[in-house]
Amino acid sequence: MAELSRGGIDTAAVRSDFPILDQQVNGHRLVYLDSASSSQKPRAVIDAMSRYYETTHANVHRGVYAIAEEATRQYEQARVRMARFLNAPRTREVVFTKNVTEAINLVAQSWGRANLGPGDAVLLTQMEHHANLVPWLMLAAERGVELRYLPLTPDGHLDLSDLDRLLAGVKLVGVSAMSNVLGTINPVQEISEAAHAAGAVCLVDAAQMVPHMAVDVRALGCDFLGFTGHKMLGPTGIGGLWAREELLEAMPPFLGGGEMISDVRLDGFSTNEIPWKFEAGTPPIAEAIGLGAAIEYLERLGMEAVRRHEIDITGYALCSLRERHGDDLVIFGPNDPLHRGGVLSMALGEIHAHDLSQVLDQYGVCVRAGHHCAKPLMRCLGVSATARASFYVYNDRDDVDELSEALAEARKFFA
Ligand SMILES: Cc1ncc(COP(=O)(O)O)c(C=O)c1O
Repeated sequence: MAELSRGGIDTAAVRSDFPILDQQVNGHRLVYLDSASSSQKPRAVIDAMSRYYETTHANVHRGVYAIAEEATRQYEQARVRMARFLNAPRTREVVFTKNVTEAINLVAQSWGRANLGPGDAVLLTQMEHHANLVPWLMLAAERGVELRYLPLTPDGHLDLSDLDRLLAGVKLVGVSAMSNVLGTINPVQEISEAAHAAGAVCLVDAAQMVPHMAVDVRALGCDFLGFTGHKMLGPTGIGGLWAREELLEAMPPFLGGGEMISDVRLDGFSTNEIPWKFEAGTPPIAEAIGLGAAIEYLERLGMEAVRRHEIDITGYALCSLRERHGDDLVIFGPNDPLHRGGVLSMALGEIHAHDLSQVLDQYGVCVRAGHHCAKPLMRCLGVSATARASFYVYNDRDDVDELSEALAEARKFFA
């Protein structure tokens, strides 16, 4: 009988679905703790992509022969799956992009340029990933838009005490649903409601949330939501934007070229219907099909179980690492695993994050070291870098114990 984790996931069975995890690194079992950066891929995803290339590769929305029609069907089927996964009211509200960074740039360049100018403000937060900062900094420099930032509380939550004042004159609020550094789960529903009451739209960077818990765009009440496939068991090169139909209808195209037009003359063009209006050129077809297979895999596990599993492993990690390493180990972000995802950014004594990560690698433990594309947040935390361990469906308490053991070795090494 398979043993279920306390969260309800059979991690041994899950692990056996991921070929990459079945290997030794530096003489140790590979312990992959960098899924917040990019998750590993189950055999089902790899097979779906290979099958597509081996049996039905052709360009989509063009050919009228059988394999081209099948390629189109599979590509569009992935959109249907993604829309269902987000509980989107309509499939046509899901635009495929190459990642969440492109999705946010799409909103900034298309909606932003059409709707923002001098005197308008955009409200972001101090915990945003560069993907939800730089597109707005670019627009601010071009259009004279004012950028404001929600600050943080000492325990790594958003400080909403001044929200109403900060919202005056704001046209768009951009917020990460789950921090990639602190793990903080932000109150997106409350922020969306406040944004709407102030006459603003709300954009959610859900890169970290969509892979790890059930996301319902209707319940969140937001207007735009970006996701990225490679963090949710899917391949690289595919992500997307969900947006309310009426917003997408009104927005000008982002990139120009084939696919996104209904007619082209030498003196102008007319645009295709949504979502294709925003999908210029040959799209990432195999990648979308791989994403569809990843969604199927996650749905089989059940997103409630995925979340329960992560609460369990995160709670275990917070307790056991602190117990063993005491004050030498700082773990940033909220203490309660119910308020955070499975992302642990750490500082161990005076050891530089990169040195720590290299020593952990000697024990087969992969963690990310650096600023995690959140330099303004690093400045708030008073550090230049952290070592970040992040968990997913294939990790279990043994992996946390391996991490803890490797941290102990690092302390000895640098003592
Ligand atoms: C919160 C958040 N937003 C955006 C991104 C950017 O993702 P991508 O590089 O797939 O566009 C990441 C990736 O680390 C992230 O964690």
